[in-house]
Parts: sequence; structure tokens; C-alpha cells
Amino acid sequence: MNPNKALWEKGDFTRIADTMRESGEALVQRLGIAKGMKVLDLGCGDGTTALPAAKLGADVVGVDIARNLVEAGNKRAAEVGLSNCRFEEGDASNLEQFPDRTFDLVISIFGAMFAPKPFDVAKEMVRVTRPGGRIVMGNWIPNDPTLVAQILRISSSYTPPPPEGFVSPMTWGVEGNVIERFVAAGVPAEKISFARDTFTFNFSGTPSQFVDEFRKYYGPSMNAFEAAEKNGRATDLQRELEELFNQQNKSTGVTSIPATYLRVTVAL
Ligand SMILES: C[S@@+](CC[C@H](N)C(=O)[O-])C[C@H]1O[C@@H](n2cnc3c(N)ncnc32)[C@H](O)[C@@H]1O
Repeated sequence: MNPNKALWEKGDFTRIADTMRESGEALVQRLGIAKGMKVLDLGCGDGTTALPAAKLGADVVGVDIARNLVEAGNKRAAEVGLSNCRFEEGDASNLEQFPDRTFDLVISIFGAMFAPKPFDVAKEMVRVTRPGGRIVMGNWIPNDPTLVAQILRISSSYTPPPPEGFVSPMTWGVEGNVIERFVAAGVPAEKISFARDTFTFNFSGTPSQFVDEFRKYYGPSMNAFEAAEKNGRATDLQRELEELFNQQNKSTGVTSIPATYLRVTVAL
């Protein structure tokens, strides 16, 4: 089994995605999507950005490595009657199902960053985008003090070291790496631009209940808890995460946590 696929099929990311809908929608509203545009959403999950893009009239294909999320995306699109939005299984590092220059816009919000072989990912995203089109990526930033970077940092301190040659997804949050990968794919460096942006997680329970959602449903956290349980450290991990979530929460009673990410735009 492909470990990248197993990681994301393990849990149920729809539970976390449910808390990210407002920010997904707001981001898509700013992308200048027009009716009839051909959009690829890579690592689309259950459609947090794909559905809003289709609602704006784009012709959207969502590609994700996790079969359960592809099914969930197709179900959500059908429920709201979006016939211009379909989801299929695929790997961001090999998009051979699509001819060159197919899409006006390729979006990947916290998606393609999790695929192994980042140079292949950049090459494939560039190949399937038409000249004059755009790629927009959202990538978590290593060592950033906000939520997701800290969850991943804390989780990694409870898990065994990754296999040799593993490239951390967080490297996509470093501008120099992003430039290197797209330049290797044939894009001039001046066509690549960066901005810091915010995604807010809105959850109807307390921050501690939100930690439980990550523990039960978010693949990377599930793995961290499994490893911590083996070493008798699960209580420490729970406590560290609860401290983090409580400290970052901006609401009372419910949970609202903003997280900073790197927005990358590549103009082709
Ligand atoms: C953090 S989730 C983000 C999902 C979605 N973009 C969102 O914002 O809700 C990461 C997604 O990337 C997908 N993914 C991970 N590796 C992938 C790969 N190699 N190819 C395609 N999708 C991948 C996962 O299955 C998961 O749906």
C-alpha cells in the first residue's frame, strides 16, 4: 500500500474540512474565477475549494489520492446539484490522465504539498496548465507559530523519524524551495509570487473537543497518537495539543483558530 494514500484514507478528513469551509470559500472568491474556466483542484479533499469554484461557474475536476475523500466530494457536489464539479482518484506527482495545457487554473490548498516527489508535482502542475493560466498553492509554513505548523511539529516529536529520503511536506512553505521546484519545471523565477494569508478553523465545540477530532480523524495526528500510545506518552501529546489549541483560540465557548499559510501564485 502507498503510505501517502494510506495516511489520508486512514482517518476522515471531512471532519476537519467541515471547519475550514468559510476560509475555502473566501479564498476562491479572490481567485478571479469566471464561468467556463477549466479548474483543477489537486489534493482537493471533499471539495472545500472545488465546490465554491464550481458554484462560480468553473468546470472543476478535483483530484485526490484518498478514495474516501473523492467519494465524499462527489456526494457533496451531487447534493447541491453541481454537474460541473467531479472528483477522481489520482496522485499529484503523476497527472498522466490529463493532456498538456488542459487547465486555466490549478489550485492546491494544503493538498499537493503532501505528495512525495515535490519536483514531479511542480512539473505536472506546470504541464497541465495552459500558457496564460495560473497555479495557486496554499502551503503551511515550517516553524510558523500558528495552528497547523505547530500540530505537525508537536506530532513529529512523538513519531519515529521518517524513512531516509523522505521530503517533508513543510518544505513547500519555504519560498526558496518553491522557486527551485518551479524553476526546475521551466518557469522563470519572476513569474512566481508569494503572500502570507490566513485560514480560520471554526469548530462548534471547545478547543479540547477539537483536539479530539484531530486525534480521531486527522491521519497525521492519528499516527502520532498511535506512536505515543506505544511509548506511554499519549497523555503528554493530548496535553500539548490542548494547550496549543486553547492558546490559539480566539473565541469563547466555541473554537475559532486562525492559521497562517504561504499563498503561492505561478503565472504561466
Ligand atoms: C490537509 S488535506 C486538504 C484537503 C483540501 N484541499 C482542503 O483544503 O480541504 C490534504 C489532502 O491532500 C490529499 N493528498 C495527499 N497526498 C496526495 C497526493 N499525492 N496526490 C493527491 N492528493 C493528495 C489528501 O488525501 C488530502 O485530501
